[in-house]
Order: sequence, then C-alpha cells, then structure tokens
Amino acid sequence: MSKIKKIAVFTSGGDAPGMNAAVRAVVRTAVNNNLEVIGINRGYQGMIEGEFVSMDSRSVMNIIQRGGTILKTARSKEFRTPEGRKKAYDNLIKHEIDAVVVIGGDGSFTGAGVFSNDYDIPFVGIPGTIDNDMFGTDFTIGFDTALNTVTETIDKIKDTANSHNRTFFVEVMGRDAGFIALQAGIATGAEMVLIPEIDGQEEKLEEFFANTNYSSNIIIVAEGNNIGGAQKLAKMIKEKHNTRGVRVNVLGHMQRGGSPTAFDRYLASRMGVEAVDALLDNQRSIMIGYTNHDVVHVPFNKTIKGKRDVGEELIRVNDILSKK
Ligand code: F6P
Repeated sequence: MSKIKKIAVFTSGGDAPGMNAAVRAVVRTAVNNNLEVIGINRGYQGMIEGEFVSMDSRSVMNIIQRGGTILKTARSKEFRTPEGRKKAYDNLIKHEIDAVVVIGGDGSFTGAGVFSNDYDIPFVGIPGTIDNDMFGTDFTIGFDTALNTVTETIDKIKDTANSHNRTFFVEVMGRDAGFIALQAGIATGAEMVLIPEIDGQEEKLEEFFANTNYSSNIIIVAEGNNIGGAQKLAKMIKEKHNTRGVRVNVLGHMQRGGSPTAFDRYLASRMGVEAVDALLDNQRSIMIGYTNHDVVHVPFNKTIKGKRDVGEELIRVNDILSKK
C-alpha cells in the first residue's frame, strides 16, 4: 500500500504542445486513485512563492487540444539556490504534498534531482520539450507538434523560393541539438541541413555554393549549430558569392505554439498515467520515457548525464536524399 495521499503537478522550462494533455492525465489518474491533486503555477518559481491550486477532474476538462500550459511555466534562478529550495520544500510541507510530478526538460529534472537529494519527497518526471534531446526516451512531448509546424512552414517557404529561384536559410529551434532541423530536413526534402552534431559544415556549405546553379534551395540551420545562425551564414554566402537571391527566416517561438498533434496528446496521456502509477508503486527520481512503443522508467541521473544523439542513420538518410 502506498502512503501517498496528495500529489502536486507542475510544468517547468520552455512550454511544449502536449503539456496540458500530460497535466490532464496526471490529474485524472490521481483522482482515479482517490488522491488529492494540487497544481503548482509557474513551475519551481511558483513552488517557492506558494502558487498552489486544488485540481480535480473538471479542472482539466477541454484542455487536451490546447497548446501552451494552463499551469504556466518559468525558468527559476531562485530554485538553483539552497534558500530557494528550502522555501519550496516548506510550501510542499505546508500543503501536505507527499509526491510530485514535474513536466519539463533536462533543466527541470536536474532541479528535481538536486531537490530530492536534500529533501525526502519523491519526484517523477515527464519529458516535455520540443527539442527531443532527452536521453532515455525516443520522444519528448511537443517534438512531434513542433516538427509538423516547422514542416508546414518550410513547405510554404518552398513555394515562394521556387517561384523566385531563391535560397532560404531557415533557422529552427532545438537549443544544442539538431533533432528538429534534421527531421524537418528529411520531411521537407531540404537541400542542406546544418546541425551541431555534424563536423565540417563550413566546408560542406562552401562546396554547395561553389557548385549550385542558384535555383531554389532550402538550407535548414539548427539554432545551436556551431558555425553560426541563419543570419550570419546568409550574410557570409551573399558576400562571398555575390548573390542576391538569398533570404532568411528565423522561425522562433511559433515553433512552440499550437494545438498538439494526436501523437503528442497520446504520448502525454500515456506518460501522465504512468507517472502517477510509478509514484504509487513507490518509484522516485525517475523520468517516464517512451521507447519501442512503450513507456519505460529512466533514473534521473541517467537522463541528466546521458547525451541523446541524432544518430548516424538519420544523417545518412538525409545525405542520400538531399542530393539532386
Ligand atoms: O527548450 C525549448 C526551447 O524552445 C529551445 O529550443 C530554445 O533554445 C529555448 O527553449 C528558447 O528559450 P526561451 O523561450 O526562454 O527564449
């Protein structure tokens, strides 16, 4: 028998489409097990400032299709300090919270890991970030929606690129990882993808422009790519090759918005149920991952320390398919 009677749930770090579906799944699974549920607004910062609200099955009605997060989110500097974590702990105790579900990225799990070393409150994590860069899961919540948004946008850019015989540098998010860029490259048939995981990109870019006939091209640039962002690269190419038909699109935060895809809703729902089940099974300091079409448990320290790679195979597929 579990001693857990009351749990808290919150979202943290950059928002991701599907976070609401995860909140809904956590709340409804908790209610289904006769647990009380508290939602914490604004992530760790809200935990520190005591932004706690009671939730029930009805408070998560009609949110599964909504982007963003109804619980709001934040990146909290204060939680990185022992004083901040002490205030957060005091609030959890004041509200008689027995266990916590955190929905966020690796920064959020690092915070949970540190907190759990100091205080005896179990945390279970659900990976929510558009970047898909978390070790131990094939997918994070929000990645599929962001990838679809990027794909649709690039399809549109391609129409105008074709009409004018222009080259577009399109910068996409992903922080230090190239998952969105590489998979969007494959999905849109982009001429080139520049991601941090590949060496020798400057040479590749040079070679491309030395040989291109300047018909329309899409070059996807991952924001974390180590030879510079889309603006810088476009400027460099314009100057070196004296070409005018170069344009830049930095997609920015529109990639984080919008209604989650069916897959993200499904993934979030499976992970939300599993997170509460895991807490009731006395699990702690684990992330719920999704590999080989099933939910799995991954210790926080593994997912925090591990580095998820885009993989040689995807790079090979893109290389083959982008050659004209
Ligand atoms: O981690 C999600 C993400 O959107 C990254 O792709 C991006 O680098 C970062 O967050 C942007 O953060 P902010 O919204 O704080 O500018």
